[in-house]
Amino acid sequence: MKNRWTMPLSFVAGILVTILVPILLLASGVVNMGADVQPGFIERTLAPLGRDRSVEKRASTEKDPYAGNPTAIAAGFDHYRENCVMCHGAPGVAGAELSKGLNPPAPRLGNGEKGTPDGELFWVIKHGIRMTAMPAFGPTHTDEEIWKIVAFIRHLPDLTKAERDSLQAATGGEAHHH
Ligand code: HEC
Repeated sequence: MKNRWTMPLSFVAGILVTILVPILLLASGVVNMGADVQPGFIERTLAPLGRDRSVEKRASTEKDPYAGNPTAIAAGFDHYRENCVMCHGAPGVAGAELSKGLNPPAPRLGNGEKGTPDGELFWVIKHGIRMTAMPAFGPTHTDEEIWKIVAFIRHLPDLTKAERDSLQAATGGEAHHH
């Protein structure tokens, strides 16, 4: 009769330990949360997986209604210069100083987004990514404005020299020295 409980009890104990050990580790403060240290293996591999699946699941399959529209791209440029270039830079444009201390880093936007559907770019810009420096712009920008930013992201690989200079100047630019 006694033996009947040995299996289920050790099973429950095993589950409790599995849940408790990570909680105790975090509660003890041994995990260094500084942005200037490399995250551990679990955070490095599982967090991006969860992020990618989460965005794919929620993003719409809509196409950008402003794709290729020059007026919309010009409006998107203004938003990008004011809200994005400091962290993300652009092709041929370095981000501002603060971009060097981000962890996870902000990817240099440009050619890398070619394979990313419009709806996923829209979702990330509107909702942001928690526990990273990527802000949600939904609280401050309309959907129309965000679609115009997406239209501008598609234009990033073809920036003119005047656009590059204007973006670089907005980051504190080349004239900035210590
Ligand atoms: C304060 C810094 C910061 C600002 C400002 C910022 N971002 Fe980000 N952004 C990030 C970081 C950091 C990530 C990476 C998050 C991650 O690793 O999951 C990111 C991720 C992204 C991604 C996903 C890229 C990919 O390849 O998966 C897009 C798209 C993006 N940002 C667009 C923008 C746009 C557009 C703006 C301006 C409207 C903006 N961001 C403003 C820091 C920033």
